Amino acid sequence: MIRFLVFGDLHLEDCTDGLERLHAILRHAREEKVDFIVSLGDLCFPTEDYSPVMDALKNCGIPVHHTIGNHDVQEWDIAHSLKFLGKDRPYEAFEMGDYKFIILDTCYWKSEQGEFHFPNRERVPSLYPVVPEEQLSWLDAQLSDGKKYVIFSHMSLVNPFARRGIANKEDVQRLFAGRDVRLCMNGHDHGSDLKQIGGVPYYTVSSASQFCWWSVTPEKMEVKNLFYKDPLHVIVELGEDEIRIHGMESAFVGLTPEDVGVHDYRWNGVDVHPCAKSCVLRRE
Ligand SMILES: [Fe+2]
Ligand SMILES: [Fe+2]
Repeated sequence: MIRFLVFGDLHLEDCTDGLERLHAILRHAREEKVDFIVSLGDLCFPTEDYSPVMDALKNCGIPVHHTIGNHDVQEWDIAHSLKFLGKDRPYEAFEMGDYKFIILDTCYWKSEQGEFHFPNRERVPSLYPVVPEEQLSWLDAQLSDGKKYVIFSHMSLVNPFARRGIANKEDVQRLFAGRDVRLCMNGHDHGSDLKQIGGVPYYTVSSASQFCWWSVTPEKMEVKNLFYKDPLHVIVELGEDEIRIHGMESAFVGLTPEDVGVHDYRWNGVDVHPCAKSCVLRRE
């Protein structure tokens, strides 16, 4: 059985205890003897200040696969961020047993001038995020070898809220039709969600640090980070006929969603209760 740990959106630049959170995740990965770890992006700014983060990941004794998040390319071009993360390509695939694991890069926008990779700060009026044409062709080819597939992306492939899920959802979902896509997992939304579309489960992993709330009015913009007590993450077990996702329960430290007026704990299409949901997914 293949077992792996998935976490995302640690945002070390936003939290004072980010490194301890990361060490707790790595400790759990070692205890559980997982085959590999996936980071869903928005790990930390790719600067020397955060080199201890990469040292911890490189020395943890378990292979770590990185997904590009919009804040990993906040101010830097993709080549710089790839070098920092030790990645050769922004999107890539690796295999284990009869599974292929595909890591997409959804940090692109599309305007009349074409498709462009972030830096996050350079967005122009456009559709974003998108999976660009070139990557769609690559994905189509990757899905053509009769394996079982698990797909990772920073942005959701299904969240309909503006600027949360990719704009060209149908293009990607069309490629999944008739292929054995067992699970898609994403970060970016800092909350939890599970949807089943066309027989494919789409699971959103909450943030390993916080729910980021914001309010924009003509007068002012407010942003508040509401911290989860524990570094939320999940462990996934790929069985023959079912997938088990082992999540965790936590709490808020300090401000809660109610304090910022989010009484139903729903935000931009996801559930911001302080947990990573556990579930069992059976083949339909
Ligand atoms: Fe994030
Ligand atoms: Fe993000």
